Amino acid sequence: MAHISNHHEDSLLELMWLGEDDGDEAQRKAQDSLAAAVAKVSGLKPFPVVAGELLRLLQTREFRMAQVQQLMERDAALATRVIAVCNSPMFCTQRPCDSLDEALVRLGTRTVEEIVAAVAAAGMFGDVPPIGKRVLAHCAGVAAIVRVLATMWRHGAVPQVFLCGLLHDVGKLLSLQCEEFDYASLDESEVVGADQVYLVERAQLGYDHALLGAHALRLWHIAEPVPEVVAYHHQPGRAYERGTEIGLLVALVRIADAIEGQMWVDEELDEAFLERLMRDGAPGFADISAGDIRGTWEGMLLARRYAIALFAG
Ligand SMILES: [Fe+2]
Ligand SMILES: [Fe+2]
Repeated sequence: MAHISNHHEDSLLELMWLGEDDGDEAQRKAQDSLAAAVAKVSGLKPFPVVAGELLRLLQTREFRMAQVQQLMERDAALATRVIAVCNSPMFCTQRPCDSLDEALVRLGTRTVEEIVAAVAAAGMFGDVPPIGKRVLAHCAGVAAIVRVLATMWRHGAVPQVFLCGLLHDVGKLLSLQCEEFDYASLDESEVVGADQVYLVERAQLGYDHALLGAHALRLWHIAEPVPEVVAYHHQPGRAYERGTEIGLLVALVRIADAIEGQMWVDEELDEAFLERLMRDGAPGFADISAGDIRGTWEGMLLARRYAIALFAG
């Protein structure tokens, strides 16, 4: 049984959403089923060892390049994929990097950290069933879109935003692999549709993919604010109350989530969709206008294609 005892995880449990009529009994049952699912996940899905060590090393901020090289030699496939993402148009603005050392210097430790975590996490779901492939492509698409949104408009490079996008629905992939929830019985658009399937999950499981994902990310030592953003991505009101950092990240992920779902259906910008999107609180919170979205649509579409090819191809 996984321990749900450290203070981070306790605070995540407080996020458990229940309807107004649910009492303590329902709360306890929901917590028990979440704890059981987290235990299952930790047994079935350990985070790749070398990537985990590399992340912990980078997070210390006091590493030597020789240590990074040593780790990379132990997992050449990870190194190759990380460099491919660093050199993709999503991240590379000048000439391509030949090594991780070079990427660390040019893109900065925090960005490389994000890319390592993204590549390692996506690699854990290479064998998912067809509906999982769509979820993985959705996650990759949201990561690319949210990065364009964050970098092309007023916020500059928002740290961790790419990783938040990539991991926002990791709970769905875990539920699928641990056979906690039968997504195949739902329509594909419902499975990736923002703000829909989490209600069905809550009704059936007592918890949703946002909470399960956040717990798994903590087990994998993915640094804050990513787990918290993942936990809150379907509870925007509560996220916005948490302050600017979490609120902005959640708002950006929510906008990208809706845009990716729409792009899957129709790559042309549809004004009726845009109107619906602008009615959500997220664009207002992130200070993004309909014109901003129109102006970046093509860039987001292109970035999304790159990301899907790299992470879910
Ligand atoms: Fe979600
Ligand atoms: Fe999503």
